[in-house]
Amino acid sequence: MALKITVIGTGYLGATHAAAMAELGFEVLGLDIVPEKVELLSTGRVPMYEPGLEELLRKHVAGIEGSSGRLRFTTSWEEVGAFGDVHFVCVNTPQKHGEYACDMSYVDSAFASLAPHLAGRALVVGKSTVPVGSAERLAVLLAERAPGDVELAWNPEFLREGFAVDDTLHPDRIVVGVGSADAEKVLREVYATPIAEGSPFVVTDFPTAELVKTAANSFLATKISFINAMAEVCEAAGGDVVKLAEAIGHDERIGKRFLRAGVGFGGGCLPKDIRAFMARAGELGADQALTFLREVDSINMRRRGHMVELAREAVGGGSFLGKRVAVLGATFKPDSDDVRDSPALNVAGQIQLQGGQVTVYDPKGMENARRLFPTLAYADSALEAVRGADVVLHLTEWREFRELDPEALGEVASERIVLDGRNALDPGVWRSAGWTYRAMGRPVA
Ligand code: UDX
Repeated sequence: MALKITVIGTGYLGATHAAAMAELGFEVLGLDIVPEKVELLSTGRVPMYEPGLEELLRKHVAGIEGSSGRLRFTTSWEEVGAFGDVHFVCVNTPQKHGEYACDMSYVDSAFASLAPHLAGRALVVGKSTVPVGSAERLAVLLAERAPGDVELAWNPEFLREGFAVDDTLHPDRIVVGVGSADAEKVLREVYATPIAEGSPFVVTDFPTAELVKTAANSFLATKISFINAMAEVCEAAGGDVVKLAEAIGHDERIGKRFLRAGVGFGGGCLPKDIRAFMARAGELGADQALTFLREVDSINMRRRGHMVELAREAVGGGSFLGKRVAVLGATFKPDSDDVRDSPALNVAGQIQLQGGQVTVYDPKGMENARRLFPTLAYADSALEAVRGADVVLHLTEWREFRELDPEALGEVASERIVLDGRNALDPGVWRSAGWTYRAMGRPVA
């Protein structure tokens, strides 16, 4: 009989995983502790912008006309415990307030709530990004509190926001940390074709599986900070970091991807993951191994300050008082409405704190941005944000911004100065429309 699957936590990761499992043909029950989320998901809608996810949900959510009916959502732990053979835990692990370490309270409480309802044979699979050593601890919790025959496995997830559906259905690799051949067998069954077709299936132990995720994110963060460090040197020496990235990227050992210099990385993963990794290494007595991540973090944070200074220079070099600054972009990256630790909003906030009149526009992130930074001014379009601006800051590389007409924007701007914080606009097009175009890590003109 086909395995029945539950997914605990229905954020980016959980909602996508639940829909993908239904797409593979499994009966799926998703759980969230927030009743409003469950209500929304049960009508095939998601509380965030993620391309393709609503379409996939609607294909499967029970009660939607024409759906497979294989996917349902609930708030009941009892129901989840009785339903599933395999339980994927997908709750988030944010950074603790004022600390580097991550907050494990959602994971801990998910395991504590689930365990007493596991009366039969079941496999619990952690997908959340956790400090190494968590799986071992949680396996003990399950052994002590679950009445049934319950095993744990760890199966980190590498999906990117904006590509969540595609990354889940066509992963680069599947990594499973298991304690027994039985657990591996169950996970091989879950990830049987088509999801694993062509995807390497890496079987390992708990600590390695946990570390793969944090190591991968640390590597990506390091790559971005490396190219941003090169941008700093390029600016000092009159070099061009975009050409430099292109040229070193031709070396296959280096590769072209993740070498876009600019205002740096943000979001709910990379910044908090490298910090939590440092904190955990400290606890393990291995802090020296990861001191370089402190530098990766500080190069990254310096990018935001540098953009503020470039903007200050652009408005005359003194104070921002009385100056109007247009900020294009609020999300931490395009094709997402996620504004967590967004470089764009951080720069906007810093300039506002220093007296500038900042107006922000973003294609999808306005609602979340308004909630997080209610004191910033928001416009309904790029053109409205730019109206009367003394300088325009391009901070999230949405396609919409690349397709803007610099001529039309020039008509409404007070000064034609644009700072490209993502090296994504076409300098030639902007300059020929009379704009002073300045990018990060590139020659001034
Ligand atoms: C990341 C990992 O890529 C993913 O594998 C993991 O599961 C979760 O964390 P995500 O946070 O969705 O995914 O975004 P990603 O595409 O990795 O971008 C992260 C940040 O780096 C963004 O702010 C982006 O703008 C920035 N970035 C990315 C750069 O500044 N330069 C680059 O070259 C690439």
